[in-house]
Amino acid sequence: MSRLSQAKVPEHVAIIMDGNGRWAQGQGQARVYGHQSGAQRVRDVVEAAGNAGVKVLTLYAFSEENWRRPAEEVNALFSLLVSYLKQEIDQLHENKVRLRSIGFTDKLPPDCQEWLKLVEARTQNNDGLQLVLALSYSGRSDLVRAMQRMAAAVKEGLIAPEDIQEETVSNYLSTQGLPDPDLLIRTSGEQRLSNFLLWEMAYTEFYFTRVHWPEFSPEHLKEALREYADRDRRFGAVRMDKPVC
Ligand code: IPE
Ligand code: IPE
Ligand code: MG
Repeated sequence: MSRLSQAKVPEHVAIIMDGNGRWAQGQGQARVYGHQSGAQRVRDVVEAAGNAGVKVLTLYAFSEENWRRPAEEVNALFSLLVSYLKQEIDQLHENKVRLRSIGFTDKLPPDCQEWLKLVEARTQNNDGLQLVLALSYSGRSDLVRAMQRMAAAVKEGLIAPEDIQEETVSNYLSTQGLPDPDLLIRTSGEQRLSNFLLWEMAYTEFYFTRVHWPEFSPEHLKEALREYADRDRRFGAVRMDKPVC
């Protein structure tokens, strides 16, 4: 692909990796087969995002609502996560990727938590792509927890209610310190947020594709980046190159 002008590359891309189950079904296979195939797409997409100049890539890997799925499927998803972390730790580090997780990760199986901590610690000083995994994540729960913590800080006299500004709220969320996503990609045709980064996506550009996640390739990512480059982000303002009256 011709390299996009750096000014048009989204700094933060968030992806809802959807459609593993339907893709597997279409192949006459069980849902878990779809998750296995989906997990294999992650490596290439992470690499392609970094090469394109994206600074932060947030992947929605497991929502808080996904706990409602059968235990067999949930267990398979977390064992795939551990395999991914084990397999990729060296390569991620070599590529200068910094890993971080968001969400209620204390609910994850202990081996998952340990591997996440290990990869986070190993890659913490890297200055390449920041890879954020959303695990047991819920935008509303993250906001509720932020509100509880802000209320506690007010009660302890650490902050006054009028000190609570937009930036304060951002700083109490698990995405603290990250820029808001510029581009959201959701695969598999669904056009909803499914409780992902609700506060952070106030001005995010949305890109929906019918491609199921196990078939989402670096070329599909580049297509999304190309479309993003053509979008006109106004943030409520007007373009100043045309007369107002
Ligand atoms: C996305 O694929 C993976 C997770 C939600 C963990 P799905 O499992 O949601 O696949 P569909 O939407 O049922 O096809
Ligand atoms: C959203 O996908 C969560 C992830 C991709 C991890 P779902 O498949 O769980 O979302 P719904 O249920 O279709 O809204
Ligand atoms: Mg789904």
